[in-house]
Amino acid sequence: MEHPVLWNLNWNFYDHFEENYKTEDDEGKAVRVNLPHTVKELPLSYFSHNETAMISTYAKELTLSEEPKERLILVFDGVMACFELYVNGRLVGEHKGGYSRSMFDITDQCQAGKNRVVLKVDSREREDIPPFGYAIDYMTYGGIYRDVWLYRCGESFISQVLARYDLKDGKVTLRPELLTDNRGQAYEGTVQISLLDVEGKLVHSYEQKVQVGSGKGSCVTLPEPVGELKLWNPKEPYLYTVEVRLEKENGTVDVHRVRTGFRTVDFRPEGLFINGNQIKIMGLNRHQSFPYMGYAMGKRAQEKDAELLKEFLNVNTVRTSHYMQSEYFLDKCDEVGLLVFSEIPGWGFIGGDGFKQVMLEDVESMILTQYNHPAVFIWSIRINESLDDDELYEKANALAHGLDASRPTTGVRYISNSHLLEDVYALNDFTYSDCDLDATKLFRGRSEATGLLEPVPFMITEFSGTAFPTKAWDSADKRTTHARAYARVLNQSCLSKEMAGIIGWCAFDYNTHGDYGSGDKICYHGVMDMFRIPKYAAYVFRSQKDPDEEIVMEPTTEFSRGDNKGNRLVSPFMVLTNCDYIEVEMYGKAPVRYYPDSRYIGLAHPPIEIEEEIGVWQDLWQDGKITGYYKGKPVAVKRFLRDSCLADLEVTADDQSLYGDYVDATRIVCRMRDEAGTTLVYFKGVLQIKTEGNIEVIGPDILPVSGGYGAFWIKTRPGAFSGSSEPAKVLVRLLNTGVEEKAIEIRLEKSGMDVG
Ligand code: GAL
Repeated sequence: MEHPVLWNLNWNFYDHFEENYKTEDDEGKAVRVNLPHTVKELPLSYFSHNETAMISTYAKELTLSEEPKERLILVFDGVMACFELYVNGRLVGEHKGGYSRSMFDITDQCQAGKNRVVLKVDSREREDIPPFGYAIDYMTYGGIYRDVWLYRCGESFISQVLARYDLKDGKVTLRPELLTDNRGQAYEGTVQISLLDVEGKLVHSYEQKVQVGSGKGSCVTLPEPVGELKLWNPKEPYLYTVEVRLEKENGTVDVHRVRTGFRTVDFRPEGLFINGNQIKIMGLNRHQSFPYMGYAMGKRAQEKDAELLKEFLNVNTVRTSHYMQSEYFLDKCDEVGLLVFSEIPGWGFIGGDGFKQVMLEDVESMILTQYNHPAVFIWSIRINESLDDDELYEKANALAHGLDASRPTTGVRYISNSHLLEDVYALNDFTYSDCDLDATKLFRGRSEATGLLEPVPFMITEFSGTAFPTKAWDSADKRTTHARAYARVLNQSCLSKEMAGIIGWCAFDYNTHGDYGSGDKICYHGVMDMFRIPKYAAYVFRSQKDPDEEIVMEPTTEFSRGDNKGNRLVSPFMVLTNCDYIEVEMYGKAPVRYYPDSRYIGLAHPPIEIEEEIGVWQDLWQDGKITGYYKGKPVAVKRFLRDSCLADLEVTADDQSLYGDYVDATRIVCRMRDEAGTTLVYFKGVLQIKTEGNIEVIGPDILPVSGGYGAFWIKTRPGAFSGSSEPAKVLVRLLNTGVEEKAIEIRLEKSGMDVG
C-alpha cells in the first residue's frame, strides 16, 4: 500500500446521531471540522468525566470521477471507542477498541460521483470494550482522534509487511512475511525484496516466488542471508527500510515499504540485554493525553513527547500505559532510541466474553501494527493490574508468541504471587509511600513479589504516582520531596541485581475521572505537568546525562527563606547535577563545597544534598550563587536574588515553522522570571494570547500563570491556507504589568503530502 491521501479535512461533525445522517447532512446542525478531532474540547480541570461520552456522527464526501476501478481502502488510526462505518447508507463494518488501527474496503459501496462516508462513533464507556466496565484512572475522550487515510489499491495488495529476521553471530537473515488481501484468484507472484540503508542506498536485494491466496492471507518468505548490518541500539538507533515489490506476470501488484532496525532482545533473570549488552531500565510511563484536546493531537505533538522523554528527560524506556499509542510516537522512539514497553488497553478489570474477545483482538492488533519498531522490546498482554485469569492470559500469551517469537511477553500486576505465564514478571510497586527518609524498604523483593524461589526476569513498572502527587506550584519542600523519592527509588533500582529496572508513574500529569486524582480531574503524578513543563523530579533523570554531552545543574529551590515547613530555612534542598562538585554561596559568606551524595551511590550522577543552613534567621539574607564544576572548571552557574522581582516574560516556541495544509500544532511556553533567571513559581498573573495569520490557539486565549509558567499549543487552519509564505504570529501579553508584549513568528509551509 502506497501513496495514501491523508483524509483529514472537511468532515461534518454532529455531537449526536440520527438515522438520516447515514444518507444526508443537516447543514443547520453540522459543524465543519478537521482531524484529529475530539468530540468535545474540555476545560483544563473540573469538567465532568461524562462530557465526552456520546454517540456522535462524522460525515465526509468522496467524489469519484467514474465507477471505482481500483479498490478504495480506508484506514483509521484511532477512533474512540468504537464505530460503525456506512457508505452511501450501507453498513461496511464496525470496529471495537479506541486504540487499535482498522481498515475497510469501501469499493463495493461506492459509485461514480458523490459518495457519503459516515461514522457513527460511540465514545461511551461500554463494558464490552477495554478499558471500560469498571473504574479507570484516566480519561479516554472520544472521536476520530488520529489520522484517516484513503488508499487506492489494485485487486490484490499488501496490507502489512512484518520484517521478520534472525540475528545470529552478528549476521542478519531476512524472512519478511507479507500480509495480503486479494479479491481475485490465487496466483503465483514474485517478490522483490530490497533492503535500503538510512540514506536510501541499496544494501541487498533478492527475489522469490510466493503463492498469494484468495482473500486475506499471508506469504511467508524463505530465509535470505544478508550478512553483517549496523545494529539498532538505544545509543545508535540505526534504521533500515525493507521494500517489498509484489509482481505478477502482467506487472507490479503492489509495493510496500516498512522501516525497521536489527537487534536482539533477551530478557534474563539478570536483566534486559539488547544485542547482548545489558541495559538497566530507567523509564517513565506515558499517557497520550493533552490539555483541552485530550487525545486529539497530531503527528508533531506525538513525536515531541518521544523527544522530550529521551532527549530532555534522558530516560531510556517508556511504557505506553495503558494502551497502544500513536505510530508517530513509536516512529520517533525508533529514531531517538527510546525503548518501548508496549501495552494493550485495560485498567484493573476483566469483563465478560465480548470484552475478552476485544482484548485478544487488541493483542493481535498491537503486535501486527507495531511489529517493525525496533524500539518495542516487550509486549504487555495483561490488563494493567488485573487479577489472575489463567485461561485468558494463557490464550493471550500464546497468541503473542505465535505472532512474534522475537520479543518477550509480560503483564503488569500489583499483586504478589500472581501466576507467571509470560516471560517477565512486571510489578507496580508503591511500597515507598510516605517518603520517610529513614525508610529502607522501597519496594518488594523479587521472590516476595513473584512467590517463586527460582530467579525469573523481573521489573517494576510503576512507583511514585498517588504516593507523591505534586503540583508545579506546591512548596519547594514538597517538590523536593517528590524529586528525592525518585532519586531514592532509582538509586535502589540501580543497586538491585534482581530487577531489570524500573519505570516511574509517570511522565506527564493527566486528566482523569472523579474517582481518582486531586478532585479537579487531574492526576498530578507527572515529573512534568500536562503542558510538559518539568518539575524538579524531572531533573533526577536529566542529571544522569553524560556531562560531556550536556551539563545539567538544577537546584531544587528558588532560594526563599520562608517556604519550608519545620522552621527550616533554605535547606534542605538538592542540586540535581552531573557536575563533579558544586559550591554554594549564601548569606554573603564564603563558598561551601558539596559533593555527590554517597546515599545515592547507585546512580551515575548522585544528587548533591545540602542539609546544613549556612546562616540563621537573624542573618541578613543576601543574593546566592551555586557554581557547578566539571573536570576542575566552573561549567554552570545559578544565581539567586535576595530581592527577586518580576523582570521578564520569556516566550519560546517548540517549532519555528508548521505545515499549513493539515492541522499541525506546536507548543508555546511562557516563563515568568526574575533578573537572575529564576522562575517565579508563585507568580499570579494573566496571559493574553493573540494570533495573526492562519493559526489559532488551542484552548483559552486568556490564561492564568501557574507554577511560574503559562503554556499552550497553537494549530494551523488548513482550510484557509493558500501556501503563501507570509508567517503567522503569536503575540503574548502579561496583563497589568510593565512587561512588554512578546511576539513569535511561525512560518507556514506545505507538507508535500496528499491531503484531502
Ligand atoms: C496505578 C495505575 C496507574 C495509576 C497509578 C497512580 O495503580 O496502574 O494507572 O492510576 O496507580 O498511582
